[in-house]
Amino acid sequence: MKQQALLQPYDMKGLELKNRIVMAPMTRSRSDNPAGAATELTAAYYGQRAGAGLIITEGTYVSEEASGYINVPGIYTDAQVKGWQLVTKAVHDKGGKIFAQIWHVGRLSHPDLLNGKLPLAPSALNPNIQAYTFDGFKDTVVPQEMTVADIKRTISDFKQAGANAMKAGFDGVEIHSANGYLFHQFFNLYSNHRTDEYGGSVENRARLLFEVIEALATVMPLNRVGARLNPSLHNAQGMMLDEGSIPVHEYIVGRLNDYDLAYLHLTEPFTPVDDIPYAVTQVAKHFRPLYKGTLIINKGFNGETGNTVIANGDADLVAFGVPFLANPDLVERIRQEAPLNAPDFNTFYTPGAKGYTDYPVLGN
Ligand SMILES: Cc1cc2nc3c(=O)[nH]c(=O)nc-3n(C[C@H](O)[C@H](O)[C@H](O)COP(=O)(O)O)c2cc1C
Repeated sequence: MKQQALLQPYDMKGLELKNRIVMAPMTRSRSDNPAGAATELTAAYYGQRAGAGLIITEGTYVSEEASGYINVPGIYTDAQVKGWQLVTKAVHDKGGKIFAQIWHVGRLSHPDLLNGKLPLAPSALNPNIQAYTFDGFKDTVVPQEMTVADIKRTISDFKQAGANAMKAGFDGVEIHSANGYLFHQFFNLYSNHRTDEYGGSVENRARLLFEVIEALATVMPLNRVGARLNPSLHNAQGMMLDEGSIPVHEYIVGRLNDYDLAYLHLTEPFTPVDDIPYAVTQVAKHFRPLYKGTLIINKGFNGETGNTVIANGDADLVAFGVPFLANPDLVERIRQEAPLNAPDFNTFYTPGAKGYTDYPVLGN
């Protein structure tokens, strides 16, 4: 059988990954319990996928006010840390590695999910999308502009989430600074109209991310911290590209070189952006020369294109989302060049085992 780049081991700053296949973070909304905790079912799901070189969990809330979807687990209470311990044990018992994706949704939340309070955001600008509440989809609202005290509290929540992740047995954390959530809302001019030290220049718009990285450094080694960026997200998740989008992402990526992070996780555009001004159309190719550390690339890859992107030197690792959701044995299928199960979109976010832990593996 031919040598596949994806199947080669990788030394990620001393963390030995058995291959270069990463499970991308995916919200699955199975924590339908009052504690908002991961459960034995969550552990079974991730344990089934421990063939990955690295698993990145679904986004997990750093605080109550960070939340924005139903049935998503948090990482800010003891019960939640205990829930995650089930997950990290299941993955480690099978020789896998796992990072927790730590998350604040900012203005994409809704008062129904925040005990009636307004969502917090860099500026009072409605993303004009819909939030999924206990009563179904509802229009988002004008959020509350964060005070500097709100920002400092949020930084401290991320720091605590890092400490809690270590307590839960995670190998590290990924800061969710992509996909139109809180950090991304600070980065882009379209969503950040602040005039203080968190708005205006690229340095100011990126400040929150670097303050969170520096806070995490006080509770865990930075070579156990990754960051995710989606520089070309457009007309989705309440985000629009603007003349500041490329400069701010280039600034961030360049400055991340000053920190000894585990990795930078980038996504190719979620939608075609060839005709959109201010878009980077080939994200890995554009940012690879700017970043000296480990680069994970994601979005739309299969075994063949994943091998190619590594062989071409445009990325070190490849993250697979939907293919991993539907194929617990994705690594084996890539090894054997076997066909993949089709995903069942109807059960992406529904409670229970159906469409979660019941996808067949090869030979069954
Ligand atoms: C069901 C589902 C949930 C997702 N939840 C998250 C999430 O919590 N955090 C995140 O950064 N990305 C999330 N994503 C995006 C994926 O990480 C990934 O970027 C996307 O699926 C594209 O990769 P793919 O083409 O390999 O599926 C989600 C995607 C799906 C399909």
